[in-house]
Formats: sequence, C-alpha cells, structure tokens
Amino acid sequence: MKSDKTPPSAPASSTGLEPTSRIHAPVDRRAFLKNTAIAGAGTVGAGLLSTAPKAFADPSHGSITRGDAAILRFLAAAEIIETDMWQQYNELAGIQDDEVPGGSGIPDFTNAVAQLDADMAQYIHDNTEDELTHELFINAYLVSKGAQPVDLRRFATLPSSKVTGAQQIGRLTNLMQLTVDTTWFTRYRSRTGNPDLGDTFPPAIPSLAVGQHPGIPRADSDLNDPNFLQAIAYTAGFHFVNIEVGGTSLYPSLAQRVTSAEVLRIVLSIGGTEICHFQTWQDKAGNVLPLTATDPVTGVEVSFPDLNSPPLGGEDFQTNLIMPEPTAFLSRSLPACSIIRPTQTRGAAMGAMHGLTNMGIFIGQSPAFFAFLRELATQADAAVRGGS
Ligand SMILES: [Fe+2]
Ligand SMILES: [Fe+2]
Repeated sequence: MKSDKTPPSAPASSTGLEPTSRIHAPVDRRAFLKNTAIAGAGTVGAGLLSTAPKAFADPSHGSITRGDAAILRFLAAAEIIETDMWQQYNELAGIQDDEVPGGSGIPDFTNAVAQLDADMAQYIHDNTEDELTHELFINAYLVSKGAQPVDLRRFATLPSSKVTGAQQIGRLTNLMQLTVDTTWFTRYRSRTGNPDLGDTFPPAIPSLAVGQHPGIPRADSDLNDPNFLQAIAYTAGFHFVNIEVGGTSLYPSLAQRVTSAEVLRIVLSIGGTEICHFQTWQDKAGNVLPLTATDPVTGVEVSFPDLNSPPLGGEDFQTNLIMPEPTAFLSRSLPACSIIRPTQTRGAAMGAMHGLTNMGIFIGQSPAFFAFLRELATQADAAVRGGS
C-alpha cells in the first residue's frame, strides 16, 4: 500500500483549489470551475490514511474522524470520475460556456441527444457543473479539516474522442466502449423487489448490457449514418441514468457510517442532488423510440425496444412510471415503502467501484489507477459510525 507522510495540502493550483490558509476566503465560483475544467478532472496522488493522525484537527473548525475522512475521500474520487465523464458529454452535446468550458459541440449529435428531450443540452451542462462543484467542495472541506484531498490528474491518460468538437486532452474515463446496466429501470418500477433483500432485476435494454457501445462519437466517421448516431445518443441517454443511479445509492449507503453531524449534512445534501439527476435522466431515457443499429466499426448490434408495448410494458417497463414504486424495505414483514434502493452500507464503496468498472469507463486505465481507487474504497468501507 502506498504511504505518504507529507502533511495535508491543497491540490495544485490548476485545480482551482485554494491553499489551506486561504480556503475560507470568498471564492470566485466561476473562475473556480473554469480553472478546474481547463485542467481536466483532477486527482492528486494524495497520501493514504494509514499514516494520518487518528483525527484531523483544524483549530478553528474542529476535526473529523479518520473514517469520515475516508468516506469523503472516496466520494471525492467518485465525483472527480463523474466530472470527467460529464465533461466529455458536455463538450459534444451540452452547452459550452464559461461555467463549463471546453469542446465546441457537434450539432448533429446534440440534436440526436435532444430526441430524448429538447432541454438535454442544458441538463448535460448543469449536471457537469454540479459534479465539478461536488468534487471541489469535498476536497476543499477535507483540506479545511487538515485531511488529504484526492487528486486523480496523474491518471488522466486515456485518449479523447477524435471527433471534431472534443478537446484533445488526457481523460480519466473512456466513453467509447460502454456496457450500460439498465436494471435500474425495472428495479425502481418493481413493487416487490429490493436488491438489499437479494432480488435481481432484468435490464430494460438487454443489448446494452453486453458488448461495448460508444456513448459519444469516436471520430467524424461516426457522424455519417444518422441511425447509428441516434443509437450512440440513446446509449448516452441510458448511460446518464446508469451514472446517477449509482450516486443515488452511494451517498445514503455511506451516510450510515458517518460520525460527525456536519459530514452527515454534507453527504445527505450532495446525495440529494444525485437523486435529482437520476430522476431527471430516467424520465428522459423513457422517451426512447424503437431503434436498431449496428456499429460499423465493431459489428456490435444495439436494439432499443418499445418499452411500452408487449412483451414489455406494464408496471415493470411503462415509461411514465418515473416515481420510485413502493417496495419491500428492511423486511418483507413491514409495509411497502417508496425508497432509494439499494442502500445497504456494507461494502458500498467497493460496490460502487465495481459498478463504475463494469460500465467499461476504465478500459485502458493503469493498474496503479485501480490500486489507488481500490485503496480509497477499502478505507471508506472500513469506516465505522462513531469510530475514530
Ligand atoms: Fe456528484
Ligand atoms: Fe452525479
């Protein structure tokens, strides 16, 4: 395991994070975000917690336990990864402005994504900005408590899409070989099943659960066939939900092992916006129209069925059932309840890491990257409520 005895300090200035001594000064939020976006989603090879003091003390702001710091560090890493994904989507199908700079957009791809909703570009922009603020806030809070922030910039080595419109910078994530889990569609529509009670759920789009599918155009040649470009846009639309449903469960799962009331407030408050994102995207994904396309490069086929018609449809697939259906919670002997699921806390961080990995977004990443992320997850999952 890597160790680092250097004292906690803010990541490099290119992230926009202020040094510890200035962290409480008023911050120009737009400059903050702009600097971060230009730098790319960052990480820092910050030291791991094994060599850190038992509790991190900031004379003016109290302290947080090692467990709380570990939970926040894993969440910071997850947010950096989210930012990296959303930044790529925003460059090609969102709104590029001084809040979320980078990229120049692709009109045909933006229009294909907009088939799910006319406001998709705005939502992509806003989701990207939200993730940037999550990442920056959690890291700044860690620094304010004398704890190590997380910086992943040294792992941002994956290539950008070659399509005209994308920035040519190193990325943490790969959006061009996605395997998208769409079981959230049936999980949140089930009135009896709960993954915390051992239930499993069928995917809404089975062909996205196998093979590798681009969620962004890989090159200008991917823009030639409107049918395939629409399939890429639909893949992105379902991947958006896949990303955010993970955050929707991760925050309440980890909140159960937070010790400080203030850290709990942070986890609950940021976690709530992940739920907002999930709810928005699952509504939009339900607007998908039947379509089948074959990837001209890989030969992989993807098929989007009519989710409202037999053999689908009904409560498991009806697209306008976007509120979580009441279901079993804690025990089947208790009444059904409309809830986030899963929220089981044991192993939640490692589960989230596996969920991200299974999307294919880390294809091409280094063993050192996986080792670093695994260590963060291990530390977070070792956190105990009321612990040191
Ligand atoms: Fe987030
Ligand atoms: Fe998110």
